[in-house]
Amino acid sequence: MDYLEQSFSVKFEYRVYFTSGLFQDHNTILSQFLCERTVAGTNQKILFVIDKGVSDAHPSLSADIRQYFSKYDTVGLAGDLLIVPGGEAAKNDPALFDNLVAAIDRYGIDRHSYLAAIGGGAVLDLAGYAAAVSHRGIRHIRMPTTVLAQNDSGVGVKNGINHFNKKNFLGTFAPPVAVFNDANWLATLTDRDWRSGIAEAVKVALIRDAAFFYWIEEHTGQLVRRDLPVMNQLIRRCAELHLQHIAGGDPFELGSSRPLDFGHWSAHKLEQLTEFEILHGEAVAMGIALDTVYSVLSGRLAPDKAERILQLLKGLGFALTHPLMQVSAADSPVLKGLQEFREHLGGQLTIMLLADIGKGEEVHEIAVEWLKKAGEQLKTDRIC
Ligand SMILES: NC(=O)c1ccc[n+]([C@@H]2O[C@H](COP(=O)([O-])OP(=O)(O)OC[C@H]3O[C@@H](n4cnc5c(N)ncnc54)[C@H](O)[C@@H]3O)[C@@H](O)[C@H]2O)c1
Ligand SMILES: [Zn+2]
Repeated sequence: MDYLEQSFSVKFEYRVYFTSGLFQDHNTILSQFLCERTVAGTNQKILFVIDKGVSDAHPSLSADIRQYFSKYDTVGLAGDLLIVPGGEAAKNDPALFDNLVAAIDRYGIDRHSYLAAIGGGAVLDLAGYAAAVSHRGIRHIRMPTTVLAQNDSGVGVKNGINHFNKKNFLGTFAPPVAVFNDANWLATLTDRDWRSGIAEAVKVALIRDAAFFYWIEEHTGQLVRRDLPVMNQLIRRCAELHLQHIAGGDPFELGSSRPLDFGHWSAHKLEQLTEFEILHGEAVAMGIALDTVYSVLSGRLAPDKAERILQLLKGLGFALTHPLMQVSAADSPVLKGLQEFREHLGGQLTIMLLADIGKGEEVHEIAVEWLKKAGEQLKTDRIC
């Protein structure tokens, strides 16, 4: 055997900042961040990509950014602030990706410069992907504006766009250089988008942190009434658990284990089947409900614990199931989701179930009969 061996590791470090009024005159978090990373002898620039839903809801945003960078001018602001449609549309239209990389080229955004994205998870996924593949990776700053993006998708290392009608078919693992969570964005979310992101907090609490689950239970009323300080606490803890998990596990998902995908195998399918009418978090809540009841039926989880989980989801205002989540025949659409998840993992199925509140347990087989029964029980609200 004749070979040369190569081995190296690359360390990634980034901060998730919590603030409010990121572009207000007196707020120096962003300017300090940019200042500390000044590279002598370069002409650093920053190009902004903004979710249209956010700029519509915050009409002074573009002017605020321009004003901010006229005061703090360590990096040069690219002349155009690119406004892109928000939501899944951002990831479905290849022309938006082309426009973005064209702007990166036009403004000379090199490897010392920045692409900053302000928006929901979809716009962040699009911009993160464009940043990751332009010049083999330019610096990317995320400024998430939804609960889901602030506590989950925006603090992680993945990006992507949809292709061949398949979700996230094109994408990379590429950590951002920083994340700025601004609490002020959240005030303009619809009630559905406000609630949707809470499902990810319930998810991570269930597999990782029982105390956090009970905290969410205790604060259900405030969360439903859109209490911003309480929501900020939820976001902070949820983001922290996600960060810990990514660093301590398998950040670039080389293995088959996907603990953070608890409740997601059926959720992804439901989103697609409903053409994204059901939001990601709403689908995840139903996926959690399904896998929770399945965990009881398969003898892992005590029924009273499952009852508590389902009551919390209901208390938060989530529906527990959907006709398309039901397994009525061997070719029920949701079962295709299971098959697709198996394929995505490369053949061996690994699904996270629950052994207790705060304790996940992975399995490699799913019994269709129990899945069917779990769906029926949720439909009739006969929990266990
Ligand atoms: N990369 C990852 O690890 C990861 C993880 C989970 C989900 N995701 C992706 O995230 C996307 C869902 O993201 P999302 O739930 O953040 O929603 P979203 O990006 O789909 O946005 C939802 C809607 O809210 C609007 N919006 C965003 N912020 C607003 C604000 N502050 N005020 C008013 N309107 C606002 C948007 O314009 C859009 O219409 C999906 O595409 C999903 O695949 C990615
Ligand atoms: Zn999710």
